[in-house]
Amino acid sequence: MSATVVSDAHATAAPTSDATRSEWWRTAVIYQIYPRSFADASGDGIGDLAGITARLDSLAALGVDAIWLSPFYTSPQKDAGYDVADFTDVDPLFGTIEDFDAMTARAHELGLRVIVDIVPNHTSDAHAWFQAARASAPGSLERDRYVFRDGRGAGGDEPPNNWQSIFGGPAWTRLTEPDGTPGQWYLHLFDTSQPDLNWANDEVLVEFDRVLRFWLDRGVDGFRVDVAHGLIKAEGLPDFIAEDDGDSMGGGAGPIPPWWAQDGVHAIWRRWRRVVDAYPGERILAAEAWVSPLSLMARWVRPDEMHQAFNFSYLSTDWHAADLRAVIDESIAEFGAVGAPSTWVLSNHDVVRHASRMALSAENPQGHGIGPRSAGLPDPVVGLQRGRAATLLMLALPGSAYIYQGEELGLPEAIHIPDEARQDPTWHRTEGERYGRDGCRVPLPWEADAPAHGFSPTGHTWLPQPEEWARFARDAQEGVATSTLTMYSEALRLRRGHGLAAAELTWLETPEGVLGLRVGDITVLANVDGADFPLPSGEVIVASAPVTDSIPADTCVWMVL
Ligand code: GLC
Repeated sequence: MSATVVSDAHATAAPTSDATRSEWWRTAVIYQIYPRSFADASGDGIGDLAGITARLDSLAALGVDAIWLSPFYTSPQKDAGYDVADFTDVDPLFGTIEDFDAMTARAHELGLRVIVDIVPNHTSDAHAWFQAARASAPGSLERDRYVFRDGRGAGGDEPPNNWQSIFGGPAWTRLTEPDGTPGQWYLHLFDTSQPDLNWANDEVLVEFDRVLRFWLDRGVDGFRVDVAHGLIKAEGLPDFIAEDDGDSMGGGAGPIPPWWAQDGVHAIWRRWRRVVDAYPGERILAAEAWVSPLSLMARWVRPDEMHQAFNFSYLSTDWHAADLRAVIDESIAEFGAVGAPSTWVLSNHDVVRHASRMALSAENPQGHGIGPRSAGLPDPVVGLQRGRAATLLMLALPGSAYIYQGEELGLPEAIHIPDEARQDPTWHRTEGERYGRDGCRVPLPWEADAPAHGFSPTGHTWLPQPEEWARFARDAQEGVATSTLTMYSEALRLRRGHGLAAAELTWLETPEGVLGLRVGDITVLANVDGADFPLPSGEVIVASAPVTDSIPADTCVWMVL
């Protein structure tokens, strides 16, 4: 990314006209691929682009509309690829740019749109810009692309302020200057290897326009924008006294830290919106902005900003009927107020998989993860039962839904990963106090009886797969009426067939603990935490668990009455 010259040769085709606009993203089901763990064609134990291409037909068969790929760019992999050293190339671990083109072509052939991750808050410390900043003097143009400051106290030995990294430990690291003396400090909200960029510097803005166009020119249908609430920090970088350190991603209650949700970020998204709108085919921007309440998050999806924002308030809501109803209403109202669709999401590569999370019996702040020594570990049977019910409720809701790879198999969080196999920087930076996110990132099982359950031809996997995952393998679930995979594909087929994503939602009178919704022409009954609810007469078209006369707790059914 050293070149900052912007080519004008982009987007020659006319943008989509109003008459041909489908607004596909308002109702889309988007499947998140975590490339390291999806499918490994090379056999090195790390998933790759060729592996994805070879397995895309199974996603088309599942019935999703689009895929979103977590980063596959050149990277030292200190944060599983969210530490990017070159934003416009593919890391050899994942293949080549030709492999990317082949994957995109195959996806498009199958009718799947392709969304890629973009990581604008920081680069890797291996990025050419950071290398140049290191080698340059304080106050130089090279340093101004990042957030360098002198330290406080005698000799500048103290960090410039008290900010803590999301992964634990201070958010500042001191450089040793080229002449060997202790030097300035640089800001990294995440790992030390992820220096934050200075978005007040025009060169950064211009460079990211180039990065966007690079991928748009290759045919991507949009971007998932990493840490879209970061980028701009409060003027003067003031100290912050957190009420608790529980909510490491900043989505919780309490004051907003000076590194999140600053007004200045919105001008960046307006600029990016103009870049994507210049291309034909309704390319989209989706914000990862862990902010709450939803009225604040909705600012990311005002008409001239992004198209979607991940609904983390929904993801963070516990399995309680009243809370779920409240967050659903709030989501539809707040996103609706700015003309955006609501989105729905239960799992991703940063949170405990929902087939486990829903059954945790102890507080587990986002990002902390679970492992063998965690309190309140989930009962796997209850977890899967709830996880399936939660999915069925989610897929009936109007708007766009995200699915994280493996949830369609009912995968639980992998809890018993040996300490020495853990790779998340959270685990290392907190010296094992937080397990971090490895448990939701374990390579997928495709075939029950193959090496690495079909993930890799050699049997290698970068994180160990639990033995019992053979029973979750895709081939063990295909064509099995009661399997989680069948439930997902049935729900997706019915969601599309009944036009649920574009329908109105109305609530039905139901007893406490039970949610009753009318969405389009179907009735959804979700017994979350209520007493057994008599099954009304009518046809059950899909159910999260077998139902006969009544719907027990932790069960959701869709009916035509
Ligand atoms: C986002 C990503 C997460 C990553 C972080 C830093 O939250 O989802 O995986 O560690 O940003 O880039």
